[in-house]
Amino acid sequence: MCWIFAYNWKENAIPLLVEWLRNLEYRGYDSAWVFWINSDWAKFFEKAVWKVSNLAMKVEKSANKDWKYTSWIAHTRWATHGWVTEENTHPHYSEDKRFFIVHNWIIENYIPLKEKLVSKWYKFYSDTDTEVVAKLIQDIFTWDILETIELATKQLVWAYALWIIDTHNPEVLYWAKLGSPMIVWIWEKWSFLSSDINAVSWVAWEFITLEDYEIVKIENGVHQIFSLWKEVSRKWEKITAEFETATMWEFNTFTEKEIHEAPEVLKNVFKWRIDFDTKTIKSETLDELNECDIKRIEIIASGSSYFAWVTGSYWFKEISGLPCEVRISPEFLYDTFIPQKKTLYIFMSQSWETADVRESVKIVKEKWWLTFWIVNVVGSTIARMCDMGLYTHSWTEVWVASTKNIIGQLGVLMLMALNFWIKGNLQMREAKDLIGKIWELPNKLKMQLENQVLLDPIIEKYSKYKNFFFLGRNLQYWTAAEASLKLKELTYLHAECYSTGELKHWPLALVWPDFPCVVINTKWLLRDKTISNIREIKARDTTVLWVVTVWDISKELYDDTIELPKSHLLLSPFLPLIPMWLMAVWIAKKLWKDVDKPQNLAKSVTVE
Ligand code: AGP
Ligand code: GLU
Repeated sequence: MCWIFAYNWKENAIPLLVEWLRNLEYRGYDSAWVFWINSDWAKFFEKAVWKVSNLAMKVEKSANKDWKYTSWIAHTRWATHGWVTEENTHPHYSEDKRFFIVHNWIIENYIPLKEKLVSKWYKFYSDTDTEVVAKLIQDIFTWDILETIELATKQLVWAYALWIIDTHNPEVLYWAKLGSPMIVWIWEKWSFLSSDINAVSWVAWEFITLEDYEIVKIENGVHQIFSLWKEVSRKWEKITAEFETATMWEFNTFTEKEIHEAPEVLKNVFKWRIDFDTKTIKSETLDELNECDIKRIEIIASGSSYFAWVTGSYWFKEISGLPCEVRISPEFLYDTFIPQKKTLYIFMSQSWETADVRESVKIVKEKWWLTFWIVNVVGSTIARMCDMGLYTHSWTEVWVASTKNIIGQLGVLMLMALNFWIKGNLQMREAKDLIGKIWELPNKLKMQLENQVLLDPIIEKYSKYKNFFFLGRNLQYWTAAEASLKLKELTYLHAECYSTGELKHWPLALVWPDFPCVVINTKWLLRDKTISNIREIKARDTTVLWVVTVWDISKELYDDTIELPKSHLLLSPFLPLIPMWLMAVWIAKKLWKDVDKPQNLAKSVTVE
């Protein structure tokens, strides 16, 4: 999603800005621009819609000029208000062109503000919510820019990272933030500000994070932070997050590369946390958690993380005997929050800033309930807000479709469920057996990657369909849901997911020969009941792709099969993911879709 990056540097920084825009393309955006200004008030900007490469072409000629400008800024916009046009692309400016504004996120009360400003004869040139901020600043300008920003931001309802430049004093950078992340790094006389730590983590070694309602002023490498009119100081923090620069190795797409990293991710999750010789768990965080009297778990996430969570909830119930409720974060956020006694609230996000997960943490924290995070990025906002947590250690997942990180999330969830096993109904011998099978799991995933040629005829056949049902039951219902999400996300084909048992209640109405069903039906998990349900579909002459455990004996029923390795029943959700993701990627490639950057979507969903 949108991000801003700015700095003061008296050399031509265009190549650098473009390069950094490219590095952060994965976040998803639909227009991009760069802006530069010098102390003689000369200012320039170049805008382009859709791709950073379009912008790169426009600024190519300016890249080698011997320019000494004061401030440089780059931004990618992910349109929320107003279509993807150059007019709507930022920066937006005041009527007198003195103040320039760039903004991330959404000003929710922009309509009444705009009406008020229009009644005062201010003209608007874009459909964005952002433009009201530029006009508002001009309207209330008190000749003290800091005071003006304080007064203007007080009128804005949620949420923003705002960059404000007063062209009469372009050496000074002003930033204000509420909700949207914002970090500062200063080195000698160079100041860098960014809404994404990944923009600076490969050059910077420390940073300051701004808190809500703070405004930072930077001049000549000196920063001052103001919070509600008072100057405050913030600690420098070390950067520990690893940012992997994007290299594709031998793969066609980055998403495939990340899928191939899944076995290593799973090893990583367990490496220091399970002693496979003694078959015991050794994690200080989990030991600490065991000291808390937890009788119930509530978990909050969205998208693929939500699906991973529902799988985890089965494990918490089955392995640990703990009641567990899973909530989708945008709904949790506006539901009445009734804290439950002895409940652990867990928040999970594969990226680092998902807005409605982060805001949900605040709701629980306000009531002083115990909060736990599961995230991938070290030092991310969600991790900083919660009381304790575990990292998935999946290395930075860069591309929009979440893959290897889901494996990491499932690994952490399994680990937590096992940790609580003593409170549950799993006997010691069974726990050890399960741990033994966990040890074998990364290799099983690896084998699936090695056998992927078996998928070729399936891709050839199924890429011709326009509609799909994904079906599964119990633990496999949620892997089917994840498989259906991924097919939609990458191919834009129509896919729906149901519990196989639900089919007869109404989805069956849609079943016809051109509407194939992908059925995940592994051994033991209500396998025979699923077979009966599928006979009902077969009777309607529909094509069925079965995803079954190796050596399944009912092959004559199946039109096509994908075979999964054998494993422990409770580990079965790990196994269909790799073939299902590869199927989505390859169908997308066959249909000439941009697998790494699916349309309209962003890696990090920073708006509500
Ligand atoms: C997954 O492939 C999607 N890109 C998306 O559904 C994602 O899982 C969702 O936006 C939640 O993201 P998070 O885990 O970073 O919070
Ligand atoms: N709401 C603003 C717009 O639509 C900013 C969107 C963004 O965060 O990129 O221009």
